[in-house]
Amino acid sequence: MKILIVNGPNLNLLGVREPGVYGSTSMDDYLEALCADYRDIEIEYFQSNHEGEIIDRLHEVGFDREYKGIALNAGAYTHTSLAIADAIRAIELPVVEVHISNVHSREEIRHRSLIAPACKGVIAGFGLDSYRLAIEAIKELKKTRPD
Ligand code: DQA
Repeated sequence: MKILIVNGPNLNLLGVREPGVYGSTSMDDYLEALCADYRDIEIEYFQSNHEGEIIDRLHEVGFDREYKGIALNAGAYTHTSLAIADAIRAIELPVVEVHISNVHSREEIRHRSLIAPACKGVIAGFGLDSYRLAIEAIKELKKTRPD
């Protein structure tokens, strides 16, 4: 089983970016530990600062039945991108929205997600462990379509 983790803008700077909000662990270090914990799952990782590249990646894997789902932290695009919401609706694979911080305890503009209604569910506020919880959620998802 494969699961794709997609990170959006500025998440390449995890570990150095606002450590008080996002922690001081880099995504590389976190992924190494995550992959070690889930040896039975092929965890793939993609990061881009560009909206169109995120959409392209969703399209590329979105119909591939080798994948069980996608954990997507769209960063600030969460709050602005109708195009990413449309891409999530356009593909077959379930997408779980992920946030490291609890967006609901932050500025009001972060309370609104344009992508949440298109996603299977939302996990926010557990630090980098939000990604692990998203993997757990994806693992538990029942098939919604026949092979
Ligand atoms: C974030 C929350 C967003 O509001 C912010 O723009 C990010 C990171 C999070 O993981 O907590 O870039 O998605």
